[in-house]
Amino acid sequence: MNSRSLLRSPVSRRLLRPVADLIDRRIERQVRAAVRQATTHRLSCELLLGERGRGLSRVVSQGPLERLHAEVAALSGNRAAATRNVATAYRLLVGLEALGVGRIAGGTMNICGKLGTIPLLDPPNDEILEIGTLYGMFSTGLVRMLEREGRSPSLTIVDPFAGVQLQPGTNPRPDPTGTPVDEHAVRTNLALAGPAGAAARIQRGFSEDPETRAAVADRAYGVIVVDGDHSAKGVRQDLQWAEEIAAPGAIVVLDDYGDPAWPGIKEAMDDHLQDDTRLTYLGKAAHSAYLRAS
Ligand SMILES: C[S@@+](CC[C@H](N)C(=O)[O-])C[C@H]1O[C@@H](n2cnc3c(N)ncnc32)[C@H](O)[C@@H]1O
Repeated sequence: MNSRSLLRSPVSRRLLRPVADLIDRRIERQVRAAVRQATTHRLSCELLLGERGRGLSRVVSQGPLERLHAEVAALSGNRAAATRNVATAYRLLVGLEALGVGRIAGGTMNICGKLGTIPLLDPPNDEILEIGTLYGMFSTGLVRMLEREGRSPSLTIVDPFAGVQLQPGTNPRPDPTGTPVDEHAVRTNLALAGPAGAAARIQRGFSEDPETRAAVADRAYGVIVVDGDHSAKGVRQDLQWAEEIAAPGAIVVLDDYGDPAWPGIKEAMDDHLQDDTRLTYLGKAAHSAYLRAS
């Protein structure tokens, strides 16, 4: 009888059963401990980055991240800086949403794309206008990202601050974070960006209203982020306004461009670019389009 047959014999099996049971129990204990540990890690990640409390998960997957690196690199012409800025923007996004009130609107790749790309497009001056701010947290992040590039941003914000997010064609409902959309929340977030955040100019009103426009059209902006009324008409009006207030070489960012939820944005940009315009389309990263004024 060879050793294999010997081990399989009924007598050997009976004799070895207690040892086999002991090994089985040890393996089972180790598997249970590993599952418990994985569940603990998953729960902690879920609380840090999951959708609870803000409505959108901040967990990143490899495919979208690689796509974003390629898009930011194509826009900026600098692959290493694109990869660095996307990573920096991601850490900033998680940090801001942990410390601030409310949230930044939109998907993780789109936010990291905007925060990472704008500083790399070398805006002609440091005057920033954000049309539609919600909690002011994106602007807070943009101030930080521009300062990291050695810039001295000066921020102007326009929003109706209606207590909730207003969008034509949608029913206003409380934000998933539970925080009211008001100027107080915006100031709290801007304080996280230090002196430049505290010095931000906030104009309450609709961007299409002549009084709102008159109050902030006192300068030529180097960056204009269009993220207010998402209807085709609203975006078209904001683009027409951008033609008047953009500095030569300014970057105009159209948020949620190409997002199937907001078809009016692409429609407005396509229509606008067929007119006599100072704006040239540079490209897109995630769901944002980038234009440069002549
Ligand atoms: C998508 S949110 C902005 C998100 C913000 N930019 C961010 O990245 O977190 C749109 C904001 O624009 C505001 N809004 C709606 N219509 C507007 C208008 N006509 N002019 C200015 N803001 C408007 C909404 O109330 C809301 O606060």
